[in-house]
Amino acid sequence: MKKIAVLVSGGGSNLQAIIDAVKAGDLNVTIACVGADNPNAGGLTRAREAGIPTFVTDYRALYNSYAQGAMPPADFSLEEVFEKQGLVKAESSEKVKGFLERRALAEADLLNELSFFDVDLLVLAGFMRVLTPYFIDRFNGGASLPRIMNIHPALLPSFPGTDGYGDTFGYGCKVGGCTVHFVDYGEDSGPIIGQAAFSIGPEDDLATVKRHGLAEEWKLYPECIRLYSEGRLNMGERGGRKVVEVVA
Ligand code: GRF
Repeated sequence: MKKIAVLVSGGGSNLQAIIDAVKAGDLNVTIACVGADNPNAGGLTRAREAGIPTFVTDYRALYNSYAQGAMPPADFSLEEVFEKQGLVKAESSEKVKGFLERRALAEADLLNELSFFDVDLLVLAGFMRVLTPYFIDRFNGGASLPRIMNIHPALLPSFPGTDGYGDTFGYGCKVGGCTVHFVDYGEDSGPIIGQAAFSIGPEDDLATVKRHGLAEEWKLYPECIRLYSEGRLNMGERGGRKVVEVVA
């Protein structure tokens, strides 16, 4: 049976949907642990109530320790992350350096916490931190199938970023949706695993769009994790782009 870890920042309703699917026997995985980037994430309470081990990688506290002189991990290379993210030298300001160094400090802690649970898959469920190549490559470890999944509140590649439903509604879209994808170096740009859509009519406002969207997320995420757990996801290529192929 596959082991997964779930990372949250907030309320964790997607985490709850995954816990419920496992309990109902619809999803055959072990949730080995739930981690958060802050100690107040509501998802931590949901995990504890379900008897799942939890940990916190306190990003804010770690950023403070960086400001007070803590060093990035010894195996962190600024040049390497720059190259992988396609950043050019002109951007190598002190600001960007600080951003990446303190992030690596937090990500090293995250990797350490996760190392105790030996999971197959990392599931981001409302985890509001961007993961850098430092973390992504160490966690993926050269596996042919990526090992980090994310859910995004829009039909990617439209509306990446933090406010997918708001952007969808604000654009006047007549269809909204959500996307589960593997995580790559870009922002919400990794290969798409699954999507669900819903209509937006004249009776809708932002609140109903969010409500419809979340209800779709709660079905879609367990379904995509199930495909992974059944070994039904393969990487393929279309026109030079890496894509996920779902085996029937
Ligand atoms: C969801 O809309 C998800 O798509 C986005 O953040 C929200 C998290 O909600 N990434 P919850 O914490 O799972 O309730």
